[in-house]
Amino acid sequence: MEDLDVIFPEFGSKLRQKDFVLEDGYTFLNHGYKGAVPKPVIEAQQRFEDEARRQPTNTFMRKKQSNWIKSRDSVAEFLNADPDDVVLVPNVTSGINAIMMSIPLKSGDTIIVTNQAFVSTNNACAQLLYHKGITTRVVDIVPPIKDTNQVVKLYRDSLDSILNIRAVVIDYVSCPCAMMFPVAEIVQLCQKYNVVTIVDGAHAPGHIPLSLKETKADFFTGNFHKWLFAPWGCAFVWKNKRLTFPLRSLTSSAANADIASQFCMQGTRDDSCFYSLPAAIQYIRTKGGLEKISAYNTRLLEMASEYLVRLWQTSTLDIPTSMEPPFLRMVRLPEIYGFSTSQDDKNSLMDLIYHDHHIDVCLKSVNDQLYVRLSVHIYNCLDDYKKLGNAVLLLVDRGRRRDSRY
Ligand SMILES: Cc1ncc(COP(=O)(O)O)c(C=O)c1O
Repeated sequence: MEDLDVIFPEFGSKLRQKDFVLEDGYTFLNHGYKGAVPKPVIEAQQRFEDEARRQPTNTFMRKKQSNWIKSRDSVAEFLNADPDDVVLVPNVTSGINAIMMSIPLKSGDTIIVTNQAFVSTNNACAQLLYHKGITTRVVDIVPPIKDTNQVVKLYRDSLDSILNIRAVVIDYVSCPCAMMFPVAEIVQLCQKYNVVTIVDGAHAPGHIPLSLKETKADFFTGNFHKWLFAPWGCAFVWKNKRLTFPLRSLTSSAANADIASQFCMQGTRDDSCFYSLPAAIQYIRTKGGLEKISAYNTRLLEMASEYLVRLWQTSTLDIPTSMEPPFLRMVRLPEIYGFSTSQDDKNSLMDLIYHDHHIDVCLKSVNDQLYVRLSVHIYNCLDDYKKLGNAVLLLVDRGRRRDSRY
């Protein structure tokens, strides 16, 4: 196995020391939940906050919109999108709601989501039912999955059998199983049925190369605070210009009706996180760009998951390689006495791993088995995953000693 330190000497623990404020002795393997923010981005945000504290009214009244536009333009360039098609929002939760409430749907219409949808999508659908009488149908996409055709077929079957489908939500990378969906194929299929496609790309920016000018989807929303190194509260919505209805902000304090003003003017909200977006993009550039970051992360993820599978004698989730996202991998945990797959037990186990070993890792339950959803980023190194491996083995051993069955 090649030594990543030799091929990428600037990444791993050295980078963590230099660029991140992660506490010593704390192992962070949950970037997919919310990413660690590098110092240059923290400093950029701090500069905007300091300026606002020094001159509150001047910063808020005179500079807010131009700062917002500068940030929007920089992310639009990164996403290869026309800036006029992009707005900044605090998170995908608000992005999904803005999109859903903008689509001219009427009572009796149906939206398709999958069982993999994030809870905020399900909640937005519940709002649509309550306020407009729009129903939701759920397509079950459950591993094992043989190939992406199987997933596309499940969508096709639903489109063929359910009446009045007006919109479909497609997760780029799903939260519960970290499955990367064949978005382009599903969008192409939906176009034949003339339904609006909404891509939940919460995990996409900074993780998967995007070119929104080329996507055929109708809407795309994604987080910058997961993989793009941005602070909490940074996301976007993109709307395809071929749509004839406008994207509406659910809240706004703007006097003007143009879309940028509507989304930019959100009362007295602190937007300093948005203003640090150009610094986050610059940080990625200084680290060699997405291509280099991806080369390190995918190799480290491969090594880490192979190591854990061997150590724990388990397996990764049974999905095709093409559905495995580059920076996330599901690895099954060995059986740990006293912990079932219930939500409570899963949370207690995550707490125990944190309290006893200072490791934060995401656990998920799939098909009645517990998995870790491993995240990798450029400040991680193989030792981080070895620590997790040993921590879990200690828990297995401790359970065995307590369990009279052994
Ligand atoms: C697939 C998916 N969609 C939506 C969200 C919601 O993102 P946010 O918490 O930034 O609103 C998440 C969060 O993890 C997610 O994984």
